[in-house]
Amino acid sequence: MNDVERKELIRAALDAQTRAFCPYSNFPVGAALRTADGKIYHGVNVENASFGLTLCAERVAASAAVAAGKRDFTALAVASRGGVSPCGACRQFLAEFNPNLPFIMIDSLRPDSIHESTLDVLLPTRFEGPI
Ligand code: THU
Repeated sequence: MNDVERKELIRAALDAQTRAFCPYSNFPVGAALRTADGKIYHGVNVENASFGLTLCAERVAASAAVAAGKRDFTALAVASRGGVSPCGACRQFLAEFNPNLPFIMIDSLRPDSIHESTLDVLLPTRFEGPI
């Protein structure tokens, strides 16, 4: 991913964040997932009155890509207040498709404040299925 593509992904995550459905937490999260063909899939957190049904933005983006036939994830950008780190469930979910996925965390209050990591650092080991 070059610099222009990286900026495009960051902008897409910030744009997605504006569409979050989060009336219970008031904590909007936007995700933008890039696939090998250069396409970008968006995700937002989708909350529910039954709180436990809430979907995180990362898993919504991953599901949108898979539903479009794309499983080759190359980078993920996530925008939130404070640029939070992804939850454990999302790490496991994303690692199914790319355990080394480059990860960009953006503080939407200070969009120049960007933290980068990779999924293998965020999730050094994962459950790979029953043996
Ligand atoms: N959330 C995400 O969408 N992604 C994260 O990485 C962290 C948490 C959402 C879930 C819930 O709607 C809200 O943020 C507060 O936990």
